[in-house]
Amino acid sequence: MTSISAHGGELVNRYQADYDLSKAKKEIELDSFALSDLELIAIGGFSPLTGFLNEADYRSVVSSMRLRDGTVWSIPITLPVTEETAATLTAGEEAKLIFNGEVYGAITISEWYTPDKEFEAEQVYRTSDPAHPGVKKLYERPPVYVAGSIILTKRLDKGRFESYHVDPADTRASFREKGWSTIVGFQTRNPVHRAHEYIQKSALEIVDGLLLNPLVGETKSDDIPADVRMESYEVLLDHYYPKDRVSLAVFPAAMRYAGPREAIFHALVRKNYGCTHFIVGRDHAGVGDYYGTYDAQRIFDQFTEEDLGIRPLFFEHSFYCKACGNMASTKTCPHDADDRVILSGTKVREMLTNGEVPPVEFSRKEVVEVLIRGMQKVSVS
Ligand code: ADX
Repeated sequence: MTSISAHGGELVNRYQADYDLSKAKKEIELDSFALSDLELIAIGGFSPLTGFLNEADYRSVVSSMRLRDGTVWSIPITLPVTEETAATLTAGEEAKLIFNGEVYGAITISEWYTPDKEFEAEQVYRTSDPAHPGVKKLYERPPVYVAGSIILTKRLDKGRFESYHVDPADTRASFREKGWSTIVGFQTRNPVHRAHEYIQKSALEIVDGLLLNPLVGETKSDDIPADVRMESYEVLLDHYYPKDRVSLAVFPAAMRYAGPREAIFHALVRKNYGCTHFIVGRDHAGVGDYYGTYDAQRIFDQFTEEDLGIRPLFFEHSFYCKACGNMASTKTCPHDADDRVILSGTKVREMLTNGEVPPVEFSRKEVVEVLIRGMQKVSVS
């Protein structure tokens, strides 16, 4: 059985633990965002990128969602440094990449440039409002972008859920072993509630396997912490999912909250993990009221199937409907709001923190138990 091709053709591998760092005299300090990008480039999650974007590719991605060679790429992957750091660099030389005093790899510096961040925000996030968490992060990061190919020499600490940190080459191998030829990827930064379960299982009706691929990199502070979510995924899979059809592996990226553009990015990255299909539901990767409910689906119209190489599966707003007596969506349910069990993310977090149990139509009881325990721990620590 052959796997789906990586984006751009080849799965990138730039991890080399024994790489000789002695030529890298200069140092660049990474933030946790850049650290997770570094690892994802190295393990092939961001194929075909082999480093942080140069100015020509950056401008092209920001303006037209493509690298200069025409390959679709919707989110700029950049390495921001201070002006002081930039003043120490020399093009053509290597610099060590440091996080918290430890060396994680090296970059061969091709150039550096000063971006127009407001333009980047308008293009990528569709707003330059600093209250948008992705835009806020963009503005907070240093002002100069360093470009160049990278090598990762040290893997990041995987913490308690190490076994779920599976590289794209390994998810691909495991899909082959399982004999799956069609795999749907599911991105989430939330616990899996009944609506998520419904769209995952609806998708699973038409493919061989499901990759539950929660994002566990940096998220905004009021999102539910990744370790609490991980435990909730484990109990859910244990009780309600067929073991031979589902694979749980984390996506170690930072969340951008870039809505439509991030949906494209999420799909391309899941293609690198070996998925053939990708779920895009309501307000994918959205936040607040910045994006329309289905903007993250509409953006796919701008690309051909060949451009993307992974097929999006779109789902409308899903919920439990008391009149239908089952899970449904705005596409399949004729009843009105009074019959539908719909809670906002903020409301659910509030309930969990106060130890209140959301209705079973909204969330499985095993999941709720884990979340209440986890959220109470978070609120006292
Ligand atoms: S996201 O920021 O990672 O997209 P979330 O974890 O809430 O947020 O969503 C994961 C996926 O499920 C996204 O594709 C999203 O569009 C979809 N989704 C979330 N809730 C619903 C819902 N009630 N109905 C349909 N799709 C949903």
